[in-house]
Amino acid sequence: MTSPIAHFNGEFLPLDQIRISPLDRGFIFGDGVYEVIPVYEGRMLHGREHFERLARSCAAIQLDNPHTVEEWLAITRKLLAYHPGNQSVYIHVTRGVPPKRDHVIPKGLKPTVMMLTYPLASPSREQVENGVACVSAEDFRWKKCHIKSISLLGNVLARQASVEAGAAETLMFRDGFLTEASASNAFVVKGDTVLAVPQDNLILLGITYQLLEKLAKSGTVKLEVRPVSRAEVAAADEVWLSSSTKEVLAVTTLDGKPVGTGKPGPVFKRMHALYQDYKAKLAKADVVPA
Ligand code: PDD
Repeated sequence: MTSPIAHFNGEFLPLDQIRISPLDRGFIFGDGVYEVIPVYEGRMLHGREHFERLARSCAAIQLDNPHTVEEWLAITRKLLAYHPGNQSVYIHVTRGVPPKRDHVIPKGLKPTVMMLTYPLASPSREQVENGVACVSAEDFRWKKCHIKSISLLGNVLARQASVEAGAAETLMFRDGFLTEASASNAFVVKGDTVLAVPQDNLILLGITYQLLEKLAKSGTVKLEVRPVSRAEVAAADEVWLSSSTKEVLAVTTLDGKPVGTGKPGPVFKRMHALYQDYKAKLAKADVVPA
Protein backbone atom coordinates (compact mmCIF):
# COMPACT_ATOMS: atom_id res chain seq x y z
CA MET A 1 0.00 0.00 0.00
CA THR A 2 1.32 3.45 -0.84
CA SER A 3 1.87 5.78 2.06
CA PRO A 4 -0.44 8.83 2.13
CA ILE A 5 1.02 12.26 1.41
CA ALA A 6 1.66 14.30 4.55
CA HIS A 7 3.23 17.67 5.24
CA PHE A 8 6.46 17.94 7.20
CA ASN A 9 8.39 21.18 7.81
CA GLY A 10 7.44 22.75 4.49
CA GLU A 11 7.53 19.62 2.34
CA PHE A 12 4.84 17.31 1.02
CA LEU A 13 5.99 13.71 1.17
CA PRO A 14 4.75 10.19 1.87
CA LEU A 15 4.04 9.73 5.59
CA ASP A 16 6.46 6.80 5.86
CA GLN A 17 9.34 9.03 4.70
CA ILE A 18 9.01 11.48 7.59
CA ARG A 19 11.94 11.27 10.00
CA ILE A 20 11.69 12.84 13.45
CA SER A 21 14.64 13.41 15.75
CA PRO A 22 14.66 11.46 19.04
CA LEU A 23 15.48 14.80 20.70
CA ASP A 24 12.36 16.51 19.35
CA ARG A 25 10.71 18.14 22.37
CA GLY A 26 7.39 16.76 21.22
CA PHE A 27 8.82 13.25 21.60
CA ILE A 28 10.77 13.92 24.80
CA PHE A 29 8.36 16.19 26.74
CA GLY A 30 5.07 16.18 24.84
CA ASP A 31 6.02 19.83 24.31
CA GLY A 32 3.70 20.94 21.56
CA VAL A 33 0.16 21.72 20.48
CA TYR A 34 -2.23 20.38 17.85
CA GLU A 35 -5.46 20.80 15.97
CA VAL A 36 -7.96 18.55 14.24
CA ILE A 37 -10.05 20.08 11.45
CA PRO A 38 -13.00 18.33 9.77
CA VAL A 39 -13.17 18.67 5.99
CA TYR A 40 -16.32 18.05 3.97
CA GLU A 41 -15.84 17.57 0.24
CA GLY A 42 -12.58 19.44 0.36
CA ARG A 43 -13.88 22.37 2.43
CA MET A 44 -12.63 22.93 5.96
CA LEU A 45 -15.33 23.50 8.56
CA HIS A 46 -14.19 26.59 10.45
CA GLY A 47 -10.54 26.17 9.42
CA ARG A 48 -9.86 29.78 10.35
CA GLU A 49 -11.19 29.29 13.88
CA HIS A 50 -9.08 26.14 14.31
CA PHE A 51 -5.92 28.00 13.31
CA GLU A 52 -6.84 30.92 15.56
CA ARG A 53 -7.14 28.44 18.42
CA LEU A 54 -3.77 26.94 17.40
CA ALA A 55 -2.30 30.45 17.68
CA ARG A 56 -3.77 30.79 21.19
CA SER A 57 -2.37 27.38 22.17
CA CYS A 58 1.08 28.40 20.87
CA ALA A 59 0.95 31.69 22.79
CA ALA A 60 -0.12 29.89 25.97
CA ILE A 61 3.02 27.71 25.89
CA GLN A 62 5.41 30.43 24.61
CA LEU A 63 5.93 28.66 21.28
CA ASP A 64 6.52 30.90 18.27
CA ASN A 65 3.70 30.04 15.88
CA PRO A 66 5.56 29.26 12.65
CA HIS A 67 2.72 30.47 10.39
CA THR A 68 0.00 33.05 10.11
CA VAL A 69 -3.59 31.85 9.87
CA GLU A 70 -3.54 32.59 6.12
CA GLU A 71 -0.34 30.54 5.68
CA TRP A 72 -1.79 27.65 7.67
CA LEU A 73 -4.93 27.70 5.55
CA ALA A 74 -2.87 27.74 2.33
CA ILE A 75 -0.70 24.78 3.42
CA THR A 76 -3.81 22.84 4.46
CA ARG A 77 -5.47 23.48 1.07
CA LYS A 78 -2.32 22.18 -0.67
CA LEU A 79 -2.36 19.05 1.47
CA LEU A 80 -6.07 18.57 0.81
CA ALA A 81 -5.41 18.65 -2.93
CA TYR A 82 -3.86 15.18 -2.40
CA HIS A 83 -6.85 14.02 -0.33
CA PRO A 84 -10.25 14.75 -1.83
CA GLY A 85 -13.56 14.08 -0.10
CA ASN A 86 -14.30 14.09 3.62
CA GLN A 87 -11.14 14.24 5.69
CA SER A 88 -9.88 14.96 9.14
CA VAL A 89 -6.70 17.05 9.10
CA TYR A 90 -4.33 16.61 12.03
CA ILE A 91 -1.90 19.51 12.63
CA HIS A 92 0.97 18.92 15.03
CA VAL A 93 3.45 21.60 16.12
CA THR A 94 6.24 20.89 18.57
CA ARG A 95 8.85 23.19 20.03
CA GLY A 96 11.50 21.59 17.81
CA VAL A 97 14.82 19.81 18.22
CA PRO A 98 17.26 21.12 20.86
CA PRO A 99 20.89 19.91 21.12
CA LYS A 100 20.15 18.01 24.34
CA ARG A 101 17.34 17.07 26.72
CA ASP A 102 16.75 19.97 29.09
CA HIS A 103 13.46 21.16 30.58
CA VAL A 104 14.43 24.81 30.04
CA ILE A 105 12.73 26.22 26.96
CA PRO A 106 15.53 26.89 24.46
CA LYS A 107 15.58 30.20 22.62
CA GLY A 108 15.42 30.40 18.82
CA LEU A 109 14.40 26.80 18.18
CA LYS A 110 12.58 26.09 14.91
CA PRO A 111 9.25 24.37 15.62
CA THR A 112 8.55 20.99 14.02
CA VAL A 113 5.40 21.01 11.89
CA MET A 114 3.62 17.88 10.76
CA MET A 115 0.23 17.59 9.12
CA LEU A 116 -1.59 14.35 8.34
CA THR A 117 -5.01 13.56 6.94
CA TYR A 118 -7.36 10.68 7.65
CA PRO A 119 -10.65 9.82 6.01
CA LEU A 120 -13.23 11.54 8.23
CA ALA A 121 -15.08 8.98 10.35
CA SER A 122 -18.39 10.75 11.00
CA PRO A 123 -20.85 9.12 13.42
CA SER A 124 -22.80 6.22 11.94
CA ARG A 125 -26.54 6.40 11.39
CA GLU A 126 -26.91 3.85 14.19
CA GLN A 127 -24.97 6.11 16.60
CA VAL A 128 -27.05 9.14 15.64
CA GLU A 129 -30.36 7.28 15.97
CA ASN A 130 -29.62 5.37 19.18
CA GLY A 131 -26.99 7.49 20.87
CA VAL A 132 -23.87 6.17 22.57
CA ALA A 133 -22.86 4.87 25.99
CA CYS A 134 -20.57 6.82 28.31
CA VAL A 135 -18.94 6.19 31.64
CA SER A 136 -17.91 8.81 34.18
CA ALA A 137 -14.60 9.43 35.92
CA GLU A 138 -12.81 11.94 38.06
CA ASP A 139 -11.04 14.58 35.96
CA PHE A 140 -7.43 14.07 37.03
CA ARG A 141 -5.86 16.20 34.28
CA TRP A 142 -3.85 19.37 34.76
CA LYS A 143 -5.52 22.78 35.02
CA LYS A 144 -4.60 24.11 31.58
CA CYS A 145 -7.08 22.06 29.60
CA HIS A 146 -7.88 25.13 27.45
CA ILE A 147 -4.55 24.53 25.68
CA LYS A 148 -4.81 21.94 22.92
CA SER A 149 -1.62 20.27 24.11
CA ILE A 150 -0.16 17.12 22.56
CA SER A 151 0.50 15.90 26.15
CA LEU A 152 -2.66 13.80 26.26
CA LEU A 153 -1.89 11.10 28.80
CA GLY A 154 -4.77 12.15 31.07
CA ASN A 155 -7.17 12.10 28.12
CA VAL A 156 -5.75 8.79 26.87
CA LEU A 157 -6.28 7.12 30.26
CA ALA A 158 -9.78 8.59 30.54
CA ARG A 159 -10.65 7.31 27.06
CA GLN A 160 -9.29 3.87 27.93
CA ALA A 161 -11.71 3.66 30.87
CA SER A 162 -14.60 3.91 28.41
CA VAL A 163 -13.03 1.42 25.99
CA GLU A 164 -12.78 -1.11 28.81
CA ALA A 165 -16.45 -0.53 29.67
CA GLY A 166 -17.52 -0.88 26.03
CA ALA A 167 -18.51 2.81 25.95
CA ALA A 168 -17.82 5.59 23.45
CA GLU A 169 -16.54 8.25 25.83
CA THR A 170 -15.75 9.16 29.42
CA LEU A 171 -17.46 12.16 31.01
CA MET A 172 -15.19 13.80 33.53
CA PHE A 173 -16.03 15.60 36.77
CA ARG A 174 -13.80 17.93 38.77
CA ASP A 175 -14.84 18.83 42.32
CA GLY A 176 -18.34 17.53 41.60
CA PHE A 177 -18.83 19.49 38.38
CA LEU A 178 -18.88 18.36 34.76
CA THR A 179 -15.86 19.42 32.72
CA GLU A 180 -15.80 17.57 29.38
CA ALA A 181 -15.12 14.14 27.87
CA SER A 182 -11.75 12.65 26.97
CA ALA A 183 -11.82 13.99 23.39
CA SER A 184 -15.07 15.95 23.21
CA ASN A 185 -17.12 18.60 24.98
CA ALA A 186 -20.24 17.64 26.90
CA PHE A 187 -23.67 19.27 27.19
CA VAL A 188 -26.70 18.57 29.35
CA VAL A 189 -30.37 19.29 28.60
CA LYS A 190 -32.87 20.07 31.33
CA GLY A 191 -36.39 20.54 29.97
CA ASP A 192 -35.98 22.76 26.91
CA THR A 193 -32.68 24.31 28.00
CA VAL A 194 -29.19 23.26 26.99
CA LEU A 195 -26.64 23.66 29.77
CA ALA A 196 -23.10 24.33 28.56
CA VAL A 197 -20.20 24.31 31.01
CA PRO A 198 -18.14 27.49 31.58
CA GLN A 199 -15.54 28.37 28.95
CA ASP A 200 -12.59 28.35 31.31
CA ASN A 201 -9.20 26.67 31.82
CA LEU A 202 -10.82 23.36 32.82
CA ILE A 203 -12.02 22.49 29.32
CA LEU A 204 -10.88 22.75 25.75
CA LEU A 205 -13.31 25.24 24.23
CA GLY A 206 -14.37 23.26 21.18
CA ILE A 207 -14.87 24.87 17.81
CA THR A 208 -17.94 22.60 17.69
CA TYR A 209 -19.05 23.84 21.15
CA GLN A 210 -18.93 27.38 19.79
CA LEU A 211 -20.77 26.34 16.64
CA LEU A 212 -23.53 24.71 18.74
CA GLU A 213 -23.80 27.93 20.75
CA LYS A 214 -24.26 29.85 17.50
CA LEU A 215 -26.73 27.34 16.07
CA ALA A 216 -28.73 27.41 19.32
CA LYS A 217 -29.02 31.18 19.05
CA SER A 218 -30.06 31.20 15.40
CA GLY A 219 -32.33 28.17 15.84
CA THR A 220 -33.98 29.58 18.98
CA VAL A 221 -32.81 26.76 21.24
CA LYS A 222 -32.30 27.98 24.83
CA LEU A 223 -28.68 27.61 25.92
CA GLU A 224 -27.24 28.63 29.26
CA VAL A 225 -23.52 28.68 30.07
CA ARG A 226 -22.98 27.77 33.74
CA PRO A 227 -21.43 25.10 35.98
CA VAL A 228 -23.26 21.76 35.81
CA SER A 229 -23.16 19.52 38.88
CA ARG A 230 -22.86 15.75 38.93
CA ALA A 231 -26.42 15.58 40.32
CA GLU A 232 -27.70 17.59 37.36
CA VAL A 233 -25.97 15.25 34.94
CA ALA A 234 -27.46 12.22 36.74
CA ALA A 235 -30.96 13.76 36.49
CA ALA A 236 -30.54 15.18 32.95
CA ASP A 237 -33.17 14.74 30.25
CA GLU A 238 -30.42 14.58 27.63
CA VAL A 239 -26.63 14.52 27.53
CA TRP A 240 -24.63 15.25 24.36
CA LEU A 241 -21.06 15.07 23.18
CA SER A 242 -19.56 17.41 20.61
CA SER A 243 -16.33 17.47 18.64
CA SER A 244 -15.03 18.10 15.15
CA THR A 245 -15.27 14.41 14.34
CA LYS A 246 -18.30 13.41 16.48
CA GLU A 247 -20.32 16.50 15.43
CA VAL A 248 -23.12 16.36 18.03
CA LEU A 249 -23.99 12.98 19.46
CA ALA A 250 -26.54 11.94 22.11
CA VAL A 251 -25.38 10.02 25.17
CA THR A 252 -28.14 7.55 25.98
CA THR A 253 -26.58 5.60 28.84
CA LEU A 254 -24.22 6.84 31.53
CA ASP A 255 -22.50 4.31 33.77
CA GLY A 256 -24.97 1.70 32.54
CA LYS A 257 -28.10 3.73 33.43
CA PRO A 258 -30.37 5.32 30.82
CA VAL A 259 -30.09 9.08 30.31
CA GLY A 260 -33.65 10.50 30.28
CA THR A 261 -35.78 8.12 28.22
CA GLY A 262 -32.70 6.22 27.07
CA LYS A 263 -33.23 7.51 23.49
CA PRO A 264 -31.88 10.65 21.80
CA GLY A 265 -34.20 13.46 22.94
CA PRO A 266 -36.09 16.21 21.10
CA VAL A 267 -33.57 18.97 21.79
CA PHE A 268 -30.76 16.77 20.47
CA LYS A 269 -32.77 16.03 17.32
CA ARG A 270 -33.29 19.74 16.74
CA MET A 271 -29.61 20.54 17.26
CA HIS A 272 -28.48 17.63 15.10
CA ALA A 273 -30.74 18.85 12.29
CA LEU A 274 -29.37 22.40 12.61
CA TYR A 275 -25.82 21.00 12.44
CA GLN A 276 -26.51 18.88 9.35
CA ASP A 277 -28.17 21.83 7.68
CA TYR A 278 -25.14 23.99 8.42
CA LYS A 279 -22.82 21.36 6.92
CA ALA A 280 -24.98 21.11 3.81
CA LYS A 281 -24.78 24.89 3.38
CA LEU A 282 -21.01 24.65 3.71
CA ALA A 283 -20.92 22.13 0.86
CA LYS A 284 -22.82 24.65 -1.25
CA ALA A 285 -20.19 27.23 -0.25
CA ASP A 286 -22.75 29.44 1.43
CA VAL A 287 -20.89 29.66 4.73
CA VAL A 288 -17.38 29.71 6.17
CA PRO A 289 -14.91 30.78 3.49
CA ALA A 290 -12.01 28.78 4.99
N1 PDD B 1 -10.69 16.45 20.15
N2 PDD B 1 -12.34 18.57 24.43
C1 PDD B 1 -11.28 17.77 24.21
C2 PDD B 1 -10.50 17.26 25.36
C3 PDD B 1 -10.95 17.43 22.89
O1 PDD B 1 -9.88 16.63 22.65
C4 PDD B 1 -11.76 17.90 21.81
C5 PDD B 1 -11.45 17.57 20.37
C6 PDD B 1 -12.85 18.73 22.12
C7 PDD B 1 -13.74 19.29 21.04
O2 PDD B 1 -13.08 20.28 20.28
P1 PDD B 1 -13.50 20.58 18.76
O3 PDD B 1 -14.97 20.79 18.77
O4 PDD B 1 -12.76 21.81 18.44
O5 PDD B 1 -13.11 19.38 17.95
C8 PDD B 1 -13.10 19.05 23.44
C9 PDD B 1 -10.16 16.21 18.84
C10 PDD B 1 -11.19 15.95 17.79
C11 PDD B 1 -9.08 15.12 18.95
O6 PDD B 1 -8.29 15.22 19.87
O7 PDD B 1 -9.03 14.22 18.11
